[in-house]
Amino acid sequence: MSDDNSDRDRSLDLFFPGPRGNALEDAPLGVRARAALYRKVNKQNGVLSSLDRWLRTTLDQPMTSRERVVEYPYVYNHLDIDPPSSILVAGGARSPVAYTLASMGYETTVVDLDGYELSHRNLTSRAADFTDLPFDTGTFDAIISVSVIEHVGMYSEDDERADIRAFEELTRVLSDGGELLFTTPFAKTYSTLSNSRVYSWDRIQEAIPDEASLSEYQIYAREEEDWFPVDRDDTPEFEGTLDSVLCAKLLI
Ligand SMILES: C[S@@+](CC[C@H](N)C(=O)[O-])C[C@H]1O[C@@H](n2cnc3c(N)ncnc32)[C@H](O)[C@@H]1O
Repeated sequence: MSDDNSDRDRSLDLFFPGPRGNALEDAPLGVRARAALYRKVNKQNGVLSSLDRWLRTTLDQPMTSRERVVEYPYVYNHLDIDPPSSILVAGGARSPVAYTLASMGYETTVVDLDGYELSHRNLTSRAADFTDLPFDTGTFDAIISVSVIEHVGMYSEDDERADIRAFEELTRVLSDGGELLFTTPFAKTYSTLSNSRVYSWDRIQEAIPDEASLSEYQIYAREEEDWFPVDRDDTPEFEGTLDSVLCAKLLI
């Protein structure tokens, strides 16, 4: 499964060279090595260009290797509200999503057990648990939750039903007519891993509260390194690596 702890730590690397775009000390090794190379030499030199290409392909994680290449566009494309509407990013730590939405002008709040690393004048963050959210009923116009719901209750508590409470809490804090966009690992058959669930169609239906309706969804599957949209009937079985995700929109 790709969402283990080391993967969580790398989630910003694909998108930000550093917290402010220029802070190279926090950038991935490949970005720092290439920056050092360019500071010292003329990049037109053939040998150095080859070295640069090797650094880029060997030390930086290729973008196509992660499910975020389909998850992030899905949630941005299906957000049907305009700035400055209020958005809760549930499980936003180490992710560019909340910072991106704040930059687009949304009044953005992040909630995550781990808080949030970046600051922006349109951004507020709270360290809290999804199963007991510190917000009033009906606070947010939309909620975005990328690859999070599968982890709720699974880190140390081993509470396989905690996702059901989390969905109830998330829909509680959504305003009438609000939208909840979420993504999660998905397979033909439900299974659990050490810190995560892999949902099946039946198990995700069970987790979604009665007052919410599934307004639309798309399943994406990986073939070798590349991701494609697939029909539900073509959802693969889970075979040890994350090869399929469900991206969905709930309305209340
Ligand atoms: C795989 S990461 C999310 C990935 C991220 N959204 C992205 O865009 O890359 C899962 C996140 O969910 C948070 N999390 C898991 N269970 C939680 C809970 N019960 N309450 C709050 N946050 C939780 C973790 O702290 C972690 O930051």
